[in-house]
Amino acid sequence: MDIDQDAEPAVRRALFEQVRRHTGIAMNERKWTMLKGRLRRRIMTLGLPDYGDYLRVLDTSADEVRDFIDLVTTNETSFFRTPRIWEYLACEFLPRWSAARPGESLRIWSAAASSGEEAWTTAMLCEERRAQHPALRYAIVGTDISDGILANARAGHYGGRSMEGVRQQRPELVQKYFRSDAAGITVNDTLRAQVTFRRHNLYDTPRDLGAFDLVLLRNVLIYFDLEGQKAVLANVRRAMRPGAVLIVGESESLSRVATGFAFEQPLIYRNEEREHEQPA
Ligand SMILES: C[S@@+](CC[C@H](N)C(=O)[O-])C[C@H]1O[C@@H](n2cnc3c(N)ncnc32)[C@H](O)[C@@H]1O
Repeated sequence: MDIDQDAEPAVRRALFEQVRRHTGIAMNERKWTMLKGRLRRRIMTLGLPDYGDYLRVLDTSADEVRDFIDLVTTNETSFFRTPRIWEYLACEFLPRWSAARPGESLRIWSAAASSGEEAWTTAMLCEERRAQHPALRYAIVGTDISDGILANARAGHYGGRSMEGVRQQRPELVQKYFRSDAAGITVNDTLRAQVTFRRHNLYDTPRDLGAFDLVLLRNVLIYFDLEGQKAVLANVRRAMRPGAVLIVGESESLSRVATGFAFEQPLIYRNEEREHEQPA
């Protein structure tokens, strides 16, 4: 057997099962070419003869599972992805929240943060509001299942395509919230003071994340099957304050999967839970 020969159907199924077990991501034969492309180089680096041997390594090595998760997740993201959402945040959510909760501290969760652009975009808009309303206090938590991509988020170092959104839509923010040095463009300390990143699997109960007023759960539900989406949404709701807002990605909808969320406008939902109710 060698790596250039395709894996047996049973081995493929076992690899799909490993993906599901460690990430909740649902894969099937239609995804095999993509998965094979991602695993092939890793298997060669490890000097393993084929995919079956790689399965045995996955069974015994927690370090390899971490690398596997980094490889099988899709981390595409960018600053100001889906402009309508950022207009909603700046013009509707922040003014309304500030009026409803004077003196409180706003908590925002970027729940599949990838390399951090979503969390930093949120921080820039909160800073812009704070410039006009200095009483605003806020904190942003970015989480992801991939340790590798979280390292990029924490570094806050960007360039190329990832920066296009901010350069095109809000070029003045590049001057304000990034610094340039020999290494490239990096988020500045003003933003860093407001954002923390940590590992969290959305299938786990969010016990120690606290309660949020706004959750960005964008472009991640699409990777889960219906049951997975239900489980993840129930978990996410456990970390939402009564009346908190949930924002999903452009090709995602809660209409078939979630209870406890009220539709507010496309991509935007509200946690229906009232103050006295216990989370589901
Ligand atoms: C396509 S990115 C979305 C990034 C950003 N939210 C956006 O919309 O631009 C999807 C992210 O979900 C993460 N992810 C996949 N499964 C996950 C899970 N079970 N728990 C937490 N994060 C997960 C991936 O690692 C990846 O970084």
